[in-house]
Amino acid sequence: MTRRAAITGFPVAHSRSPLIHGYWLKHHGIDGTYDRVAVEPATAETFYRAFAKSGLVGCNVTVPHKEVAAACCDELDDAARAMGAANTLWLDDSGRLMGANTDGLGFLGNLDQQAPGWDARTKSALVLGAGGAARAIVWALASRGVEKVLIANRTLSKAQDLADRFAPVAKAVSWDYLADILGRTDLLVNTTSLGMEGQPPLDLDLSPLPVEALVTDIVYAPLVTPLLQAARDRGHPTVDGLGMLLHQAVPGFERWFGVRPEVDDALRSLVLADLGVSP
Ligand code: ATR
Repeated sequence: MTRRAAITGFPVAHSRSPLIHGYWLKHHGIDGTYDRVAVEPATAETFYRAFAKSGLVGCNVTVPHKEVAAACCDELDDAARAMGAANTLWLDDSGRLMGANTDGLGFLGNLDQQAPGWDARTKSALVLGAGGAARAIVWALASRGVEKVLIANRTLSKAQDLADRFAPVAKAVSWDYLADILGRTDLLVNTTSLGMEGQPPLDLDLSPLPVEALVTDIVYAPLVTPLLQAARDRGHPTVDGLGMLLHQAVPGFERWFGVRPEVDDALRSLVLADLGVSP
């Protein structure tokens, strides 16, 4: 029987998930589909609570439903529990709704692929931003054993709230002290929307950052953000944000369709072309 999965959220028209999973379904010759299902906010709780009746074997969850989806699950993995948000759901053999959050795994998978050994070199990370993506990344860094994760955000109180969730590894820091902190940073992560097409660039003087420090951005349009370009110009290793999007999709595909897919160059090129981003 055809196994059906989908991206659920509101809106879902912009999602690249159907392209990613469609590529893997075709690549592996699997009898499955991956569609878009718009779930209006007013009906979200009913939809996830009655997920077994949807005809889907599982789904991804995007904004604004990641928290409500987590609340409707019968069981959550460590990441989803720690974040209070789920992006990947599936029904187990007895019809229970299981939830995971793979955004952090996507972040780790991207760095592992593009900068192998990065974790052995990272004692102290600096995360810029304190939204949903930052929450996943702070979880990921803490779960990988990074000793210190500093969080700076335009709105300091949000950085503090996030740091509290992952204390004592995470700590909020004021944006005003970044120059000082950069000098002791092994990994710099931008999770803000600054540098995205149509947004102002992230205005940060990288000169205090040790030259071997790794710089990564979750923004992938453009692929090389002004931050990544400035880092490259200074000789830092860099990792772009596209891989996080691709790698976060891997565990869901494996759950729903039984094959662990690869993030390969052909997939990267396909998604880049769809985004209209030059490689
Ligand atoms: P996501 O889920 O992708 O992380 P989000 O939850 O909307 O998105 O978070 C966006 C992040 O970008 C926030 O940390 C936000 O800072 P605030 O908490 O102060 O809003 C940050 N951000 C967005 N625009 C910014 C700007 N112009 N300057 C600095 N930070 C900005």
